Amino acid sequence: MANKDRVTFGSKIGVILATVGCAVGLGSIWRFPYMVGANGGAAFLLVFMICTVLLGLPIMITEFFIGRHSRSNAAGAFKKLAPGTQWSLIGYNGVLAAFLILGFYSVVSGWTLEYIWQAMTGSLAGKTTAEFTTDFETFSSSALRPIGWTIAFIALTHIIIVSGVEKGIERASKIMMPALFIILLILCIRSVTLPGVQEGLSFLFKPDFDKITSSVILSAMGQTFFSLSIGMGCLITYSSYFGKDTNLQLTAVQVTVLNTLVALLAGIMVFPAVFSFGIEPTAGPELVFITLPNIFEQLPFGNIWSFIFFILLALAALTSTISLHEVATAYVHEEYHMTRKKAAWIVSAGVAVIGAVCSLSFGLLKEYTIGGLIIFDALDYLTAKIMMPLGGMMICVFVGVRIEKKVLKAELTNKGTITFYFFNAYAFFIKYIAPAAIGLIFLNELGLIKKIISLF
Ligand code: PHE
Repeated sequence: MANKDRVTFGSKIGVILATVGCAVGLGSIWRFPYMVGANGGAAFLLVFMICTVLLGLPIMITEFFIGRHSRSNAAGAFKKLAPGTQWSLIGYNGVLAAFLILGFYSVVSGWTLEYIWQAMTGSLAGKTTAEFTTDFETFSSSALRPIGWTIAFIALTHIIIVSGVEKGIERASKIMMPALFIILLILCIRSVTLPGVQEGLSFLFKPDFDKITSSVILSAMGQTFFSLSIGMGCLITYSSYFGKDTNLQLTAVQVTVLNTLVALLAGIMVFPAVFSFGIEPTAGPELVFITLPNIFEQLPFGNIWSFIFFILLALAALTSTISLHEVATAYVHEEYHMTRKKAAWIVSAGVAVIGAVCSLSFGLLKEYTIGGLIIFDALDYLTAKIMMPLGGMMICVFVGVRIEKKVLKAELTNKGTITFYFFNAYAFFIKYIAPAAIGLIFLNELGLIKKIISLF
């Protein structure tokens, strides 16, 4: 099944870093704190951790199986493993999700560029908390400037995708990812020495079980999928480039642990500061952008810190946008027999349009809502809470019913050269438990479960 002319990642550490790069990004540092804040704090974190261990990790391993076994893009993989069937719909769902996510993700990535700019020009210095908030709101709701940054970010991603510089990305990630980790640690230390530390940490770590509602559960599951990049084919595409001797199980564990650690650090960095500076934890997508500058203000050479931080955050976002773009580009390139360049152009142009609309939904297009959500939030909801979990569910069912257990085991143990403890439990889990759990969470949110129970 191997396709000999496909590139593979240069080194083992490269594989891990690129995959960590795909997972770690705005999802852990921007979206995670905002979701924790909006969903009642520690209760959300608890459900998120449970989803990460019980759904995230097994689904990631399963995607690695599909990718490396088929050696093709997200949609092609299903065609190869189950020719002439409808299973490839899972792949299309993933490609579409990648495309839509890239649209709103680029907007937030663009915001990081604005903050780099502001740090460079010194305009973050000397402001009060209220000023940081109103300035962010004025900026994000204006028409041209955020769109400009959004398109700049898409252009940056585009250039990397067309020049096929996996090597460059690998090399950059090797330095940038550890650097980001270190700066997060420093900011955590600053944050936990602020006066709001008690309140912040208990908000994050002391669960109030009454707060676990169906919508909190759905949000936490969505966060798991979004943050680990699972359920939409990114990891299928990436693992299709893995070498024969990559340890798929170990890689999945490493990526999951690192990603979760980054999210926790982001939480520890944000919440003490939120309470110290009197910011609303429920502020929404702007939470990190109004909280962090306050922490930087508290550090000597605040501008330099914020400059370094936002550069690293932009890079973390870039390694994720590259992976999202790659899913869509690899699909158009391989399935429509188009040059890579042309495929990338089509994707970038489409994403630029979605990005612009999402950006405008904070201002000019604010009135256009879907189910009460502005377009930006609606796309986030659709992808993270519906398309990705649905994709993950179908991926499990697919492997459960279409793939022979011995084929699955051979791939995940590198033909028996490494051990997979509890393989049978894993196989049972992804075939029955994981899809059922995701299905129940959906039904629960729709209120159907309550209705059924009330019938008895
Ligand atoms: N996981 C990425 C993040 O946390 C976002 C992402 C989602 C990337 C899906 C690729 C695919 O930032």
